[in-house]
Amino acid sequence: MTVVDLAALGESFTRDPYPVYARLRARGPVHRIRMPEGNTEAWLVVGHEAGRAVLTDPTLTKDWSKAAPALGLGAVSAGPHMLRADPPDHTRLRKLVAREFTPRRVEQLAPRIQRTTDGLVDTMLAAPGGRVDLVEALSFPLPITVICDLLGVPDLDRRSFRTWSNDALGATDPADRTAAATAMVEYLTKLVDDKRRHLGDDLLSALIHGADEDGDSLSPEELLGMAWLLLVAGHETTVNLISNGVLALLTHPEQLAALRADPGLMENAVEEMLRYDSPVETPTYRFTTAPLTIGDTTVPGGGELVLVALADAGRDPARFTAPDDFDIRRDARGHLAFGHGIHYCLGAPLARLEARIALGTLLERCGELALDIHPAAVTWRPGMLIRGPFSLPVRVAP
Ligand code: HEM
Repeated sequence: MTVVDLAALGESFTRDPYPVYARLRARGPVHRIRMPEGNTEAWLVVGHEAGRAVLTDPTLTKDWSKAAPALGLGAVSAGPHMLRADPPDHTRLRKLVAREFTPRRVEQLAPRIQRTTDGLVDTMLAAPGGRVDLVEALSFPLPITVICDLLGVPDLDRRSFRTWSNDALGATDPADRTAAATAMVEYLTKLVDDKRRHLGDDLLSALIHGADEDGDSLSPEELLGMAWLLLVAGHETTVNLISNGVLALLTHPEQLAALRADPGLMENAVEEMLRYDSPVETPTYRFTTAPLTIGDTTVPGGGELVLVALADAGRDPARFTAPDDFDIRRDARGHLAFGHGIHYCLGAPLARLEARIALGTLLERCGELALDIHPAAVTWRPGMLIRGPFSLPVRVAP
């Protein structure tokens, strides 16, 4: 099978991958590709039905030790964690934190999320001329504050952490990814050691201290892996839901007007934002353990890398009518933005709540909210994992 060189498409693919995915989808559900990240070769699954099936295929493993050595994948993680584990390890790790992320538990965080958002929007409105970068002012600080509060690490060095995290996930050069991951592991090790000496009423303390009702608890390596996963997953994604969502509204004024006129549409609007511009473009790596047939193609076993284009699943006309239209009233349920199957996003209730509060507050407090950049000039994060702008200049006024 010929290799589709996505790396060679450069910035145009990063800016707008949707037409490329659509062209591939028209040819079939699976393609051999070269990724922008490290020129790695992988199998890319496009379309909703095929993507959904692959996400639950039991022959695919998330265990990186089973990756084909030729892929040359570096560690890029602080320790064993859920997104690198299969059952029964996965089941065990997920169970240890799942109760913290139920919709009921998460709803209790609403007043705190609202307070944090109010403070950030106050600062935005006080900016000279009301000109701010939305990413810097709201999309980044809100989720990182919420996850740090939840974990009990309020003093996190956010600027360094953000740089390491961005590079560990998105740097195209594997050496940069590894260097960032190493720096982050050193930092997290110290953070967990400090926490051990100052246990509190927070999630990280509970994980350090506690055992669940079955007497299970995390090993020191698993603890690092869990802290890494929650911190990275907790902010690398929601930041882009807020930014991509605001960008979609500001480039579709009639949808913005409809949402302003009826804030009751917010819950549905957030689902549509997830479908329309999925913050996780392709999810974390899966590897074959046996030949896997998708459509007319059989992907060999032996640790081949398989990626699912979640962003394309949301734009598949076989699943969503007029998929390239952004329509906050449509039924967007069934999108794959939070994944599917046993690795379905643990933080989905939290992400939805944060986005609803952030966008709701922004619209309520900013009578004027407009882009301060031509949409075509927005620069996007590189790599296929995360989709979101580096910065989003806006103008706001009460
Ligand atoms: C808009 C925001 C978010 C999006 C789009 C998102 C997306 C995803 C996706 C697609 C997966 C599955 C990955 C795969 O199957 O390879 C996932 C898993 C996960 N997410 Fe999220 N996520 C978001 C926010 C969050 C938040 C706020 C947290 C937590 C604090 C979180 C924690 C996790 C965890 C722990 C997993 C692994 C679950 C498992 O392996 O069982 N996510 N997320």
